Amino acid sequence: MPATESLTIRRPDDWHVHLRDGDMLKAVAPFTARQFARAIVMPNLAPPVTSVEAASAYRDRIISVAGSGFTPLMTCYLTDQADPAELARGHSEGVWVAAKLYPAGATTNSADGVTDIARIRPALERMQDIGMPLLVHGEVTDPDIDVFDREAVFIDRVLEPLVRDMPALKIVFEHITTADAAQFVRDSRPTIAATVTPQHLVLNRNALFAGGLRPHAYCLPVVKREKHRLAVRAAATSGSPKFFLGTDSAPHSRDAKESGCGCAGIFNAPFALETYAQVFDEEGALDRFEGFAAEHGPRFYGLPLNDGTVTLERGGCAVPDSIAGVVPFHAGETLRWRLAG
Ligand code: DOR
Ligand code: ZN
Repeated sequence: MPATESLTIRRPDDWHVHLRDGDMLKAVAPFTARQFARAIVMPNLAPPVTSVEAASAYRDRIISVAGSGFTPLMTCYLTDQADPAELARGHSEGVWVAAKLYPAGATTNSADGVTDIARIRPALERMQDIGMPLLVHGEVTDPDIDVFDREAVFIDRVLEPLVRDMPALKIVFEHITTADAAQFVRDSRPTIAATVTPQHLVLNRNALFAGGLRPHAYCLPVVKREKHRLAVRAAATSGSPKFFLGTDSAPHSRDAKESGCGCAGIFNAPFALETYAQVFDEEGALDRFEGFAAEHGPRFYGLPLNDGTVTLERGGCAVPDSIAGVVPFHAGETLRWRLAG
């Protein structure tokens, strides 16, 4: 059978992205808007987006640089002081689509995150009542836990009890990195889903040390062993509606990455669809790509599917070494699919 030379799918969405603010927002938002119709925008700015007014103003700033053809879907940053009434107000006014749980200290700008999930119980109960999804950075911050085990331990200590205690809460386990997470989501009820990033489909932890220390392969949760990468790939390409596209594109300047204490985050927005298409092609699953990229996410969130299409073509796509002072994922490499137009 001849290989598929082009692939046209319904216009996709990115269910997890960091667009930042100010000059960085201006530089990176057009890349996401070129690839995706909508995106779930992470609220970990400094200061974090905790009020409806801040989220609404941030949404306006995004639209002003990304154009009106792109719809940012805003999220509330949960703190120990999360106010159930404010969450419900933002949700009913159509500002907040979801709320994000960062365990305090887990990642970039998470110092104001949640120190103990028991503290946000009233907020979670309200979210369950109104059908507002909880988006989870699923890692414990206990320094006694090995960094490569933090996701698996989070499942045991936090997620499994939460799923049991709140039987109607919609939860997205963001950027899953382990076989444990893939299996947990697969075996849970239909209101438990997961996003999958390009880097966790492509890299294993050897990439962090390939010939030297590789800061541009560093993100959180950190990439894991090969067996975990294979399990995450199998889940993403399985066709299950529980797994959908979320890039976790997280730009940091080259200086901030190439440092004695480099920031976590991989800037994959410019060529995300190309990377995902390559992975689905390698797995013989191009027929399942549209579901992953454009259908499973909106169905989970209860949002309409997009109109319009995008076309990917087989053929070399050269990734530059640097874009707006940020080193993109796959810098200097050539991808085997490219976005037409
Ligand atoms: O690698 C990451 N970068 N993981 C996160 O959880 C946050 C993100 C960022 O904001 O830089
Ligand atoms: Zn993220």
